Amino acid sequence: MPIFLDMHELGDYTKEQLVAGLEEDADEFGVLVHQMLFNEKENILHCICTAPDVAAIEKHHEKFNVKCKKIIPINQIKTDKVIKEEKLKTIGELSSRLSHDIRNPLTILQTSLDVLRSNNPETYEKNISRFNTMYDAIKRIDHQISDVLGFLGTRKLNFTETDLDDILNSSIEGMKIPTQIVVEMPQNKISLNCDFESMRTVFSNIILNAIQAMNDTGKIIIKALKKEDSISISFENSGPAIPEKIISKIFDTLFTTKQEGTGLGLVSCKNIVEQHGGKIEIKNNPTTFTVILPQKIK
Ligand SMILES: Nc1ncnc2c1ncn2[C@@H]1O[C@H](COP(=O)(O)OP(=O)(O)OP(=O)(O)O)[C@@H](O)[C@H]1O
Ligand SMILES: [Mg+2]
Repeated sequence: MPIFLDMHELGDYTKEQLVAGLEEDADEFGVLVHQMLFNEKENILHCICTAPDVAAIEKHHEKFNVKCKKIIPINQIKTDKVIKEEKLKTIGELSSRLSHDIRNPLTILQTSLDVLRSNNPETYEKNISRFNTMYDAIKRIDHQISDVLGFLGTRKLNFTETDLDDILNSSIEGMKIPTQIVVEMPQNKISLNCDFESMRTVFSNIILNAIQAMNDTGKIIIKALKKEDSISISFENSGPAIPEKIISKIFDTLFTTKQEGTGLGLVSCKNIVEQHGGKIEIKNNPTTFTVILPQKIK
């Protein structure tokens, strides 16, 4: 819709009356006022509005009986930020639809593979590496979909009381952990009030990032700490520190330093944790990601 700068006198109205009369939707002529700037010295109102054409704005003036000074069409100059936001919105809508549509056939593939495997143990034994490649591919697609859905924040959360160990075990289940990498689970048993599925996405993303950062050898230490009104789950890894110059960007949408990364992992984690009313803190030496969730400790 074309944008105009519409300058007119106040007529019989006070500026307060005009502001109070601002509508959220376009009027019967298709005119929508987005912003009003009042020039006190000349007693003129400058309105930024969208309208089908100049004639529509003139009709709008007639209705309010205000004298028009000037109507200037404006070309909108889009900043990089606006362009990026528009692109992300389009990608978001498309991805959300696609993600939901891909999940169903993916479940069919997974179930069929499981059936093939248990009905034909010999074939499975003979083709074990092919089966594993297929399982890995399904897992990878599933991981990307979880990231996209986490990023879009479209999943409805279902809060339940769950043992932290259960979520952590499910997060690493099926993950390819190199033999030289040790994952140390929390020493204490605690339960969390959270959405199991999305918290599993958070933990598996953080653990996967740690594995990828460590180049096949090292240690991931997971600790759980109960405080008065929150629970902290920290993931420490012995990999190199996150370089100072990228540390402020790692939660940015699509930021990645990896050839095959989407850069949606951490932004999804942040969205999910914030949906739980919590936050994620990071620090170096040793590299540690801490998920802090508000909880009523029983
Ligand atoms: N534990 C870590 N140690 C060092 N750098 C990390 C760690 N976790 C994340 N990063 C840095 O943060 C960046 C963003 O991480 P994020 O999980 O959002 O995306 P990604 O891992 O690159 O891709 P994806 O998760 O979509 O596969 C990574 O590319 C990496 O540079
Ligand atoms: Mg990642």
